[in-house]
Order: sequence, then C-alpha cells, then structure tokens
Amino acid sequence: MPVVRATRRVHFCAAHRLFRPDWTDEENREVFGACSNPNWHGHNYVLDVTVEGPIDPETGFVMDLKLLKAAMNTEVVDDVDHKNLNLEVPWLAGVLPSTENFAVAIWDRLAGSLPDDVRLHRVVLHETVNNAVEYLGPEAP
Ligand code: NI
Repeated sequence: MPVVRATRRVHFCAAHRLFRPDWTDEENREVFGACSNPNWHGHNYVLDVTVEGPIDPETGFVMDLKLLKAAMNTEVVDDVDHKNLNLEVPWLAGVLPSTENFAVAIWDRLAGSLPDDVRLHRVVLHETVNNAVEYLGPEAP
C-alpha cells in the first residue's frame, strides 16, 4: 500500500516563564526577553502532529484523525490548556518550557499512543504566528 502522511492540528493556550535560576535577572532578560517576565505570560499555541503509515485498504485512511485528535487531547491538550507550564504539568516538571523542549516532550507523550502500523513523523509546535519548532523524533538525522 502507498505510505502517506496525515496531519492533525489542535490549539491550546498556556502560560510560562523562561528563566534560569542560576543566571542573573539581567542574563535571563538578555536571552529570554519578554518570555522571562517574572509574572508569567501566555501564548496561543498551535500544535500540528503528522503521522505516517500505509493506507488502510478498508478505510482509505492512514489513521482515523478522530483518534489522532483524541490522543493529542488526552496526552497533551488536557494537561496543558489554560495551565502554567512551569508549575502545573507533571511531564514538564524541571523542564525549561521553551518551544523546543515542549515539542520534544509532546513527541514523547504521543509516540506510544498510536496504532501499531502508524508512526509519528513530525511534531510542529507554533508558539506565536511567527515562531515554530519542528521535531522529527530521536531517530531523525
Ligand atoms: Ni513566552
């Protein structure tokens, strides 16, 4: 069967602060800018998850995107939407919540929750309309 990729998008909102306690306030401000503001701030995140696999001859689908949406909600959105990423998300505990680190953590959440013949291909996490991070998994070159 032909192998194709399918993508599902979800939206969520979350607060965070980029801050290293081992740096001075000036160093944090220099590197992280407004994302280092002491009293938190929010982003309207957009998450695109792409799966890859053979087309199921019965359904014509790589994967039922309702099921992918459900996995994205259960594994990611339900835990982070309208939450503080620094304080309230167990699977981000101790992680500096940059878009990069967040995208990798999302990959790790989703990689084990797909049907057997479907593989996770790509996670793209948009933090703003201008900034996005792409992660192709630990085995990507
Ligand atoms: Ni920020």
